[in-house]
Amino acid sequence: MKTKILIPMAILILLVFSSSAFASHHKGEISKKEGILLVAFGSSEASARVSFENIERKTRQACPETPIFWAYTSRIIREKLAKQGLMIDSPEIALAKMMDQGFTHVVVQSLHTILGTMHHDLAQTVAAFNSMGRFEKILMGNPLLASQKDMEQTVDAILSTIPKERKKGEAVVLMGHGTHHSANAFYSALMFQVQLKDPNVFVGTVEGYPEIKDIKFWLGEKKIKTAWLIPFMSVAGDHAKNDMAGDEDDSWQSILTKVGIQCKPVLKGTAEFDAFVDIWVDHIKISLKHF
Ligand code: CO
Repeated sequence: MKTKILIPMAILILLVFSSSAFASHHKGEISKKEGILLVAFGSSEASARVSFENIERKTRQACPETPIFWAYTSRIIREKLAKQGLMIDSPEIALAKMMDQGFTHVVVQSLHTILGTMHHDLAQTVAAFNSMGRFEKILMGNPLLASQKDMEQTVDAILSTIPKERKKGEAVVLMGHGTHHSANAFYSALMFQVQLKDPNVFVGTVEGYPEIKDIKFWLGEKKIKTAWLIPFMSVAGDHAKNDMAGDEDDSWQSILTKVGIQCKPVLKGTAEFDAFVDIWVDHIKISLKHF
């Protein structure tokens, strides 16, 4: 009877001691190491670098103690840059390196605008690294537009960054990327909310709804004679230069000019403006608070 109780007790005591020794051994060995991984689609255009430098500068200001890493999701752009001698990691390689360097807490923040397919692809990578269990915590920051608060801040950012030279009665046409993903609805939701404050601001997309033909129709209905064309993407890259402001027949500038609307293109990405970058940086800070 006695031995029957003593043996399990001895095992229990052994377990308690060994597990506490195990825990303290690990506590001494692993110290908390936080890092931020900034992720962009990427761009080979020199003009896009202004956006990336700005978001890095603002992130550094907000989190001066935390090391910042970069990754581009586009393999084509990474290969193009590699030929120029500029090596940029994919998110997978960047996270593997951070793992190797002993980071324990990582925020992955993308420069995406909506919760579309690119955001979800990145979320899968983050989930895979999370399930490996080598990071104590890996969190993903939201894109620019994920909540109603983001929406309101984005409306304010749009209104505060419209060029001062724009006169009353002139339209502002923002060019979003657009997607087949259901998150595309954010663009028309944004247009509705921005128009409550300025009815002559329109939000169109290259690959979703609203299309340029819709914008052309609405501008016509309002008898708009001048439109400022502004990218609603983090960088003023290929879409802004060609699809928005290019000389080709199917560029937004050409389509609107043909119906008598004078166009004033602005080649600046949203990440060049602090008013937008602050929203992304806020999302990084929210993740860091969970560490
Ligand atoms: Co595109």
